[in-house]
Amino acid sequence: MITTTKLCRRFRVGDTTVHALDNVDLEIGEGDFVAVMGPSGSGKSTLMNILGFLDSPDDGKYRFFGEEVAMLDDERLSRIRNEKIGFVFQSFHLLPRLTALDNVLLPLRYTDIDVADSQQRGLTLLDRLGLSDRVGHRPNQLSGGQRQRVAIARSLINAPRLLLADEPTGNLDSRTSVEIMELFAELNRDGQTILMVTHEEEIAAHAKRLIRMRDGKIEHDTIHH
Ligand SMILES: Nc1ncnc2c1ncn2[C@@H]1O[C@H](COP(=O)(O)OP(=O)(O)OP(=O)(O)O)[C@@H](O)[C@H]1O
Ligand SMILES: [Mg+2]
Repeated sequence: MITTTKLCRRFRVGDTTVHALDNVDLEIGEGDFVAVMGPSGSGKSTLMNILGFLDSPDDGKYRFFGEEVAMLDDERLSRIRNEKIGFVFQSFHLLPRLTALDNVLLPLRYTDIDVADSQQRGLTLLDRLGLSDRVGHRPNQLSGGQRQRVAIARSLINAPRLLLADEPTGNLDSRTSVEIMELFAELNRDGQTILMVTHEEEIAAHAKRLIRMRDGKIEHDTIHH
């Protein structure tokens, strides 16, 4: 699904250059469930952003389903991103004035799928995530864990091949975090490929593979047995 070769991302701040990614070689296959760990500033979010087409590398290659991402024009890039990649962030990124259901349906707004179909899909997903009695609630009427489940439902509404989550449990208490991880594990058992960043070992332990980053490099890459 994903192959990167010598991926580099540098940021110039004043007269210093930060090597946020330094020659990262990475392969992610369909069905993987990967946790990315590493100290603050080690390049985890930079990697996620590039893998999710939100940022571009300065050097190196990124192939997504065999296509070299640097060769894609903006239109194709956003189409592939919308169709194949779902994002979950630490701070949920829900629109406060929309209900849970309407937040989930946001990514479908610019597609030609009809309203009844999309509503049905949204309701089915919210039901699957245990939120069938919260579809009409707005974000401020939901708990943190419920908000994150709405955000996860939104990220899954297009049935993306890849789910990217940058510290999805960073704002949640430990019990709610475990619930979210159980949900990820279940999605993964059903075939969902997941790549998530976390600072917590217990959270990372739910994944099948652990990547440790340091100073923009992959330091360890291990598969759990
Ligand atoms: N837009 C930017 N401009 C300048 N420097 C940046 C930018 N984005 C990231 N960096 C730098 O790149 C390095 C990697 O940042 P990144 O956000 O990927 O780290 P991280 O591993 O996600 O850290 P954290 O665990 O704190 O989220 C850091 O040193 C950061 O300061
Ligand atoms: Mg980060």
